[in-house]
Amino acid sequence: MAGVPQQLKGRSFTRVSSWSGDELETLLDLADELKAERARRRELRVLPGRTIGLIFHKPSTRTRVAFEVGIAELGGMALFLPAAELQLARGESYRDTALVLSRFLSALMIRTFEQAEVEEFAEHASIPVINGLTDEAHPLQAVADAMTLRERFGSLNGVKLAYVGDGNNVCRSLMRIAARFGMTFTAATPSGYEPDAALVADAGAEAAAAGGSVELTTDPREAVRGADAVYTDVWASMGQEDERERRLRELEPYRIDADLLAHAATDAVAMHCLPAHVGEEITADVLYGPRCLAWEQAENRLHTQKALMALVIR
Ligand code: CP
Ligand code: NVA
Repeated sequence: MAGVPQQLKGRSFTRVSSWSGDELETLLDLADELKAERARRRELRVLPGRTIGLIFHKPSTRTRVAFEVGIAELGGMALFLPAAELQLARGESYRDTALVLSRFLSALMIRTFEQAEVEEFAEHASIPVINGLTDEAHPLQAVADAMTLRERFGSLNGVKLAYVGDGNNVCRSLMRIAARFGMTFTAATPSGYEPDAALVADAGAEAAAAGGSVELTTDPREAVRGADAVYTDVWASMGQEDERERRLRELEPYRIDADLLAHAATDAVAMHCLPAHVGEEITADVLYGPRCLAWEQAENRLHTQKALMALVIR
């Protein structure tokens, strides 16, 4: 394979909008190459002697395992750092933690609640900081989803993507990446669950400049009409356990089932970032059916996270 491009060395990845469309495309191209090389049982060992820290304030299956396996395949070492066992839990500041960890590690991923915590880490760390999910954004998921859609449709420009359900972290990052790549993005959420207006306006302007669009509706059928891909995520995210009952009641009409999918394009695919609550936001026949890309999305977390590390770690 061709070498790893050098221009992104040292960069953090805290949100989709931190990277330009060209930079994101560089990441997707490298992820495609790494996927093909892995299928040939060839690995790019670009992280010898590097240690990457993984701070988790919330549970994870895909993000953690994709990093740990990916780092091993790139020849580096992963250090799993549950936040409850760090001095952070006893009040050590993000600033001090970032300054200290920068002396040991080559990159740091953090999954937490506040986006501001990730930004604070990135501001004070002298190593790349990667957002592994916050209440506001899930950029790693968005790049894996973009890879999955590009594999399926050949190009992202013009792809019609509908998101149905809670306008949460996954929805926001998906909207941003859809806008960057000129996709036609519509989100159907109950009123009060939509992504914030400023973000929608910003993404809408960006999408328009790239030949796409960003729209909101409260009608799931309207959102999926003619869509190439129909995406959903859980109705109660990590940290929203107290709101679960109300959310289940109010999001009930937003389930992806065969009936809703029938309103999309003939060969439309279903997508889910996982973990799924089967029977809530998505029915079993759709999730385990032949048109569902959720398992490919999960695998692509590995290839995109490897590509990201190969690009940013010095
Ligand atoms: N989709 C996703 O981020 O999964 P995990 O919470 O298991 O990491
Ligand atoms: N919206 C979900 C995504 C999990 C990967 C959450 O934040 O819990």
